[in-house]
Amino acid sequence: MTLLKKEIKICLGSSCFSRGNKKTLQVVQKYLKDHQLEREVILKGNHCFSDCNKGPVLKIGSRLYEEVSDENVLAILESEFGEM
Ligand code: FES
Repeated sequence: MTLLKKEIKICLGSSCFSRGNKKTLQVVQKYLKDHQLEREVILKGNHCFSDCNKGPVLKIGSRLYEEVSDENVLAILESEFGEM
């Protein structure tokens, strides 16, 4: 099994932050902790991705996810990290 460090960039621009990424950030942090992924995954806040109308957004590697919520982010994380 190859472990490549992946990077999560969560938009903390004012639009995404106020529309849910504040809570999503907490869900992501808990997921990484619960799955012992804190060393394998780099979590960063990011300025606006200029994609506000499709926000909240977050990026994992080169993939941009739109309309992310604290409810659908777990499925996203599972699809990205479920087999790490
Ligand atoms: S604030 Fe998130 S894309 Fe603009």
